[in-house]
Amino acid sequence: MHEAIVIDTDPGQDDAVALLLAFASRDVLDLKAITTVAGNVPVAQTTANALRIRDLAHADSIPVHRGADAPLVVALETAEFVCGPDGLDGAGLPAPAGEAAPGHAVEAIIAICRAAPDDGITLCPLGPLTNLALAFRLAPDILPKVRRIVVMGGAIGLGNITPAAEFNTYVDPHAAAVVFGCGRPIVMFGLGATLQAIASHAQIARIGALGNVTGKAVHGMLTRPRPGGLGSDGHPMHDPCIIAFLLWPELFEGRDCFVTVETGEGLLRGRTTIDWNGRLKREPNAHVIASVKAPELFERLIERLATLP
Ligand code: BDR
Ligand code: CA
Repeated sequence: MHEAIVIDTDPGQDDAVALLLAFASRDVLDLKAITTVAGNVPVAQTTANALRIRDLAHADSIPVHRGADAPLVVALETAEFVCGPDGLDGAGLPAPAGEAAPGHAVEAIIAICRAAPDDGITLCPLGPLTNLALAFRLAPDILPKVRRIVVMGGAIGLGNITPAAEFNTYVDPHAAAVVFGCGRPIVMFGLGATLQAIASHAQIARIGALGNVTGKAVHGMLTRPRPGGLGSDGHPMHDPCIIAFLLWPELFEGRDCFVTVETGEGLLRGRTTIDWNGRLKREPNAHVIASVKAPELFERLIERLATLP
């Protein structure tokens, strides 16, 4: 049975690889739509980038809906210093051929959930959680139709954008708090998990040698110059873990935990507190992934990317 999913995203190079993995897996995943959000770059650019990646995969039947241009409460902060001025530095892709579908991303999420098949919709947020939070607040009736949320965000240890916080939960902490408090099943991939999924230089070279345009674009993105200190071992593949989990859950292990998000304006903004040892005696609200079988993940990812144009 195909799992019906919506990918909410802010491409971003690692988002782009996640999208490509989903495009290459339509034998298993029923990708209803891609919704975009401001994050790595402003939303006009994340939308253009989602369309560029869709063009690359010749997947124009999948609608792309443009979403929120700013977090719920705080001002938008973006990450051009990591992703480059257009968010997809190194991809070498042309401007999109088509346009975003009519209708705001939040309206699309609501409509897709309301029309969901019996087993519901899996939401896959790869960026700040603004669109999901708006949808849940605007239309709480959709919550029972949300089968699960498999999210890239947060950290059990150190953050990446601040010492305390991971980028996605930092950019819109209030939205993250709404989503972690929504009461639906959540699978959380924080940095403790995704930093185990670092594509090595050898694996990136294999992707470049696949001989398809997709491999060339992915190789270009993952070998672009990046600021120092972001890891010389290879390129972190945070967001592809989300799609990989849907396809190959046996590659991941975790634990049910209570998770909260810090919404204050201080140094802890966007910090996720993960009660790994159950000290707070609170009902778990997320399955927190802690280990990733990365070599097998990359073998399977490379196999799938090889099937694209
Ligand atoms: C997350 O932040 C973004 O820059 C990446 O695309 C990923 O979603 C990692 O902290
Ligand atoms: Ca992202």
